[in-house]
Amino acid sequence: MKSQDIRSTFLNFFEHKKHSIVPSAPMVLKDDPTLMFVNSGMAPFKEFFLGNAQPKHNRLADSQKCLRVSGKHNDLEEVGYDTYHHTLFEMLGNWSFGDYFKKEAIAWAWELLTDTFKIDPDLLYVTVFEGSSDADNLPMDQEAYDFWKALIPEDRILMGNKKDNFWEMGDQGPCGPCSEIHVDIRSAEEKAKVDGKSLVNMDHPQVVEIWNLVFMQYNRKANGSLENLPAKHIDTGMGFERLCMVLQGVQSNYDTDVFTPIIREIETITDKKYTVGVSRDLTEADDGFSAEKINIAIRVISDHVRAVAFSIADSQLPSNTGAGYVIRRILRRAVRYGFTFLDKKEPFIYRLVDVLVNTMGQAFPELKEQRQLVENVIKEEEASFLRTLDQGLVLLDRIIENATSKEISGKKVFELKDTYGFPEDLTDLILRENGLTYNDAEFKNMLKAQQERGKQASQLKSDDWTVLVEDQDQEFIGYDTLEAKVKITKYRKVTSKKDGELYQLVFNMTPFYAEGGGQVGDKGYLEDANGNVVYVIDTKKENNSAVHFTKSLPKHVNETFTASVDQKQRYRTECNHTATHLLHQALREILGIHVEQKGSAVHSKYLRFDFSHFSKLTAQELKDVEDFVNRRIDGKLPFQEQRNIPMQQAIDDGAMALFGEKYGDTVRSVRFGKSIELCGGTHVDNTGDLWHFKIVSEGAVAAGIRRIEAITSDAVKDFYFENNRLYTQMKDLLNNAQEPVKALENLQEENINLKKQLDNLLKEKAKSIKGDLKSELTEINGVKFLAKKLDLDASGIKDVCFEMGSQFTNLFLLFAAEQDGKAILSCYISKELVASKGLNAGTIVRELGNYIQGGGGGQPFFATAGGKHPQGIEAALKAAEGYLK
Ligand code: SER
Repeated sequence: MKSQDIRSTFLNFFEHKKHSIVPSAPMVLKDDPTLMFVNSGMAPFKEFFLGNAQPKHNRLADSQKCLRVSGKHNDLEEVGYDTYHHTLFEMLGNWSFGDYFKKEAIAWAWELLTDTFKIDPDLLYVTVFEGSSDADNLPMDQEAYDFWKALIPEDRILMGNKKDNFWEMGDQGPCGPCSEIHVDIRSAEEKAKVDGKSLVNMDHPQVVEIWNLVFMQYNRKANGSLENLPAKHIDTGMGFERLCMVLQGVQSNYDTDVFTPIIREIETITDKKYTVGVSRDLTEADDGFSAEKINIAIRVISDHVRAVAFSIADSQLPSNTGAGYVIRRILRRAVRYGFTFLDKKEPFIYRLVDVLVNTMGQAFPELKEQRQLVENVIKEEEASFLRTLDQGLVLLDRIIENATSKEISGKKVFELKDTYGFPEDLTDLILRENGLTYNDAEFKNMLKAQQERGKQASQLKSDDWTVLVEDQDQEFIGYDTLEAKVKITKYRKVTSKKDGELYQLVFNMTPFYAEGGGQVGDKGYLEDANGNVVYVIDTKKENNSAVHFTKSLPKHVNETFTASVDQKQRYRTECNHTATHLLHQALREILGIHVEQKGSAVHSKYLRFDFSHFSKLTAQELKDVEDFVNRRIDGKLPFQEQRNIPMQQAIDDGAMALFGEKYGDTVRSVRFGKSIELCGGTHVDNTGDLWHFKIVSEGAVAAGIRRIEAITSDAVKDFYFENNRLYTQMKDLLNNAQEPVKALENLQEENINLKKQLDNLLKEKAKSIKGDLKSELTEINGVKFLAKKLDLDASGIKDVCFEMGSQFTNLFLLFAAEQDGKAILSCYISKELVASKGLNAGTIVRELGNYIQGGGGGQPFFATAGGKHPQGIEAALKAAEGYLK
């Protein structure tokens, strides 16, 4: 069976069991501070499990893109070394939200595997939670045991511990006991030798878990305790790539048709060969270039290109922070393996995107749509990291050259990694090739200390919520009003290194806009009946709630408060948000429909808009864009919106189709004239409110991504006032010239002519000085010597040196000059003397530079130094003789 058919068979099976089939949600999570990436098929549905939101259907099935590269579930370092872990993988899942439970989940999983997919039941083992006697004190899952007993011989039901059979999404969140299904695909011969039972959950490459059925019934709270969920749910996850391995009768995920086309392409590009099958022991022939290292590198690259490509297609570009940094590190890991083990010193991973689009573009159309961007970004990232690697190699060469013992300090290796991104395994390899090693313990200590520092800086510690009112449906009323009477429904204290102690408050309803869609969160205040005020310094979204940040807690939290949004900030932000929509429309109109939004930040003072486009905008294009937006501002277009409409309706109305929405989302469409966008942000009533739109900068952010920064309304007024002030000041300096531009041009021309005249004069002067200088030469130990202060500039002195140098082969000159309160020293030594006497002008000026409190350098035969202490010139000149005596 082809992988595409395997995926659709799974989905069809559950469609027949009355499940609604939904597309994969984007991999990068937006509003969940506890999780960076979707790490399991259930993550996009977390709010349904917790009972904070209601799905339209209580049975769903999908194939979800998952990424296990950070937090509780992190497989990154294993990837490539074994044949069944991945960074990005597809998780096939079926879900019940308060509908069916263990009985159906177990029966259907069995039916699909053994009846539909025809996997021999003799290959299968299942596990059941044995219970725990720790603080959670959980019972054994007898119910699941009994359901399995009806389907499979009892000796194939194994008891599993909490680590394997109690599934938790993260440190907090929904969780419950689970039953895993494992498959043993070893040969009959091996099976006869070792009982499969003993290999379950033992990291054997051919006795692997393929499906996990989680019986969700608890929520893990921040304080570590468990509470019962309001309803019981099913969350199952089957590893798509592993299922393909079993059904295609191969021994490794990498030998399935999910990976082989990519691997073939890597082989073609690198001229290296991949060996089919499972990984072998690395210890034998571990010389850095063994066949197995090549296999590992090829697995790493074929895996990582998927994670990076899908992430970029989901609009998460590599960057230096957060999710972007994780993606950058994955790509760099791939580059490193290519560089070290496949000998690829130029970008090549981007060339795999084509194959990926051909194999997966149908199931995941976002990849097809974004193909060009994905290629460009990967190529640019590869090139830039390869430059870093080159730089690291030069530094490492220097370290090797200057090594005084066989062991390099761990500090040096750490610095190479920390400052230049040069990985330690590569350092190790190169050191070993040169017969050296490094102090690994010292390196690891430094790395650990740095990680600790990072953790402390970023960690936001939060208490559990104190719930005052059980109220799950918080309403946002800030589209229509900026002030409202509210009650606090829950609050908690959070502590971060950066901001210290803060409080987070959730209200029953709120006029405060929570940061989202690029727009900043509202600020404002809460006031009680006695006029006591607590300021809201920011508002952010967490799952389905708006969380208001305050520096203190109101005295009587149970009272009713007046919540007021800072109107000025909100209004200015709205002007910039509306301008962002008009700018987007203008760019697509003027540059073409390849322009897509890639990021946006809407602040009260300015807006920033990132978009896909491949070249710098010309002055004319920028002007056209500004004019386009300003015409729509002058046209006073009214704001029109539709709230809570299904996605399809918005698209039918002409809104741009966007990837990035997930199942269950209804959308809001916002319209100004012909600009229609899906948007949750706040806007002005009429484009006329913007007064004027002005672009203040345009530049590149990444390969194929440009950034425009612009301003509107009051900020534009400030901008013109400031420009006008500068203009008046300049005009004053030009003696109030009637035509200041002309006056400036005249000045520039005059300046050029004066410079030319001065040059000529200096040359004349140098010529006449040279004649005199020759007669001043003295001879010390057979060397013609002169040390003197000259009234010339640096280039004049250089001329004199070379001119005199052409006449002698045993010359040592030290000239000094004083210019604008600064000192210059120039030293010239005939090349013959450099060779015969070991004199070096570079070293000499560096040493003499001390007299003038400066430094310098150059070549052995000519070097200059500059310093801020002209009073030291005499002493420097006197000291010069010393080099010849
Ligand atoms: N959440 C479970 C897992 O990831 C099943 O989907 O294994």
